[in-house]
Amino acid sequence: MPRLSDPRFTPDCTIVVDGRAVPARAGEPIATALLSAGRPLLARSHKYHRPRGPFCLAGSCQSCLVRVGGQPNVRACRTACAEGLVVETQHALPTAGHDLLGLIDLATPDGLDHHHLGTSSVLLNRAVVAFSRRLAGLGRLPDAACPPPATPREERFDALVIGAGPAGLGAAEVLAGGGCRVLLADSEPRAGGRLRCRLDLPGEPPLALASRVEGSLLATGGELMLDAAVLGLWLDGGAVLALVHQRGAAERLRLVRPARVLLCAGGTAVPAGIEDGDRPGILWGRGLAVALAEHGTVPGRRLAVLGCGVEAEALAARFTAAGMSVARLDSARRALGRARVRALDDGHGGQLPCDTVAVVQPPAPATDLARLLGAPVAFDASARAFAVLADAAGRTAVPGLFAAGEVTGAMDAAAALEAGRRAGEAARG
Ligand code: FES
Repeated sequence: MPRLSDPRFTPDCTIVVDGRAVPARAGEPIATALLSAGRPLLARSHKYHRPRGPFCLAGSCQSCLVRVGGQPNVRACRTACAEGLVVETQHALPTAGHDLLGLIDLATPDGLDHHHLGTSSVLLNRAVVAFSRRLAGLGRLPDAACPPPATPREERFDALVIGAGPAGLGAAEVLAGGGCRVLLADSEPRAGGRLRCRLDLPGEPPLALASRVEGSLLATGGELMLDAAVLGLWLDGGAVLALVHQRGAAERLRLVRPARVLLCAGGTAVPAGIEDGDRPGILWGRGLAVALAEHGTVPGRRLAVLGCGVEAEALAARFTAAGMSVARLDSARRALGRARVRALDDGHGGQLPCDTVAVVQPPAPATDLARLLGAPVAFDASARAFAVLADAAGRTAVPGLFAAGEVTGAMDAAAALEAGRRAGEAARG
C-alpha cells in the first residue's frame, strides 16, 4: 500500500518491520509510520491472540507493544523512527500478520479459562498450565540486560505541575508569573496536551501558549520536563515527595520535593464501547488528530468518526481536508473485519464501510496520583468515569494538592485553561 500521508511530510528513512522495509520520517513514532504505510496491525493480544493495533497513540493503552532493537514491550507510539531501526511484531507465531495461535480466538468465541483450559485432572492441569504460559505473557526477555537506574538525589521546587495540557500550562504560567520556581512535567514528547490536536480553543495558537509558558518557567529557575512520567506521589514528613522517570537521551529518575502539587494530568483514552471494538484501525480521535497535525498521518482512505459534539465535527473536517472520505456516526453496535476494521454495524441493519474509525469521547480522568495521596474522587457522569473532587479554585481535600482540567471531569480546552489558571492563583496564594 502506498504511503497515504500528507505529501509535505516526505519519508526520509527506512525502518525494518518483520524483515520488510517501511518508509518513515526520522523522529516520527513507529506507530504513525506504520499507519501511514497502511499497516495498523502490530501485535496479538496476550490471551486470545486477537489482532492488535495502536489505539490511543498517546502512550496509555499498551496495545502497540513491539520488540525494537532486541527490547521487548516497547510502545510503538512512543518510539521514534530512525534509519535501519529493526521492529518485530511480538507475541505471535510466527508474526502478527500470520499468527497460528489466532486460532484460539476463533475456536473459543465464548471465552476460555486459560489457567486450566477446563481440565479437572491435577497432573493434566500442570501440563496445561505450563503450555498455556507459553501461549500467554508479554514478549521474550531482552537480548541484553538493562543497566540499573542511578539513585536520584532530592530536588526542591515551589510547585510541581503534572501535565502540560491547557490546565497545566495555565497553572504553570500563573505560578511562574508570581515568581514561583515551577517544575512542569508531562509524559508526552511535546507540551500542549489536547491543544496539540488543534481541534478547539480559538484564539492564541496552542503551541505559542506552550512556548510562552516555557519562557516564563525558565525566567524563574523552573523547568519544563517532557517525556517524563510521574511514577508516584507520597507524603513524607507531612510534605509531598514525587518520583519522576525522565525518558529519552537524559533518562534518569528524579526525586522531587515540591511545596505544592497541581495535578493537571488530563485523562486516558477510553476504548470504543462496541462489540469487537479492539480491531486494528480503530483509534482514539485525539491521537489521530495529533498524528495528522504533527506527522501528516493519514491512516486510511475511509474514516468513520464515532461520536458527537464539537470535537467530532472538527475531527471530521480535518480528515476530509486531508483527503479521506469521512462519515460520522453517533453510535454503533459492532465493528466488522478482523486484521483491520472494514465497517461499522449501526445496530439498525445498516453498515458503514470504513478502514479507520476515530473514537471521540471524553478521556477517563487520570485519578491514580491523587488517590495515592488520599484525595477523594467521585463519579463524573459526563466522563463516565471517576474524577478528582476539587473546588472551583482547584483545592482538593489534601493540603497542598490542587487539581484542574479534565482530571476533575469532562470539559473543553478553554474551560481547562481557565481552571488551571484559577488553581495556579489558589496555589500561589
Ligand atoms: S500505548 Fe501506544 S497506542 Fe496506546
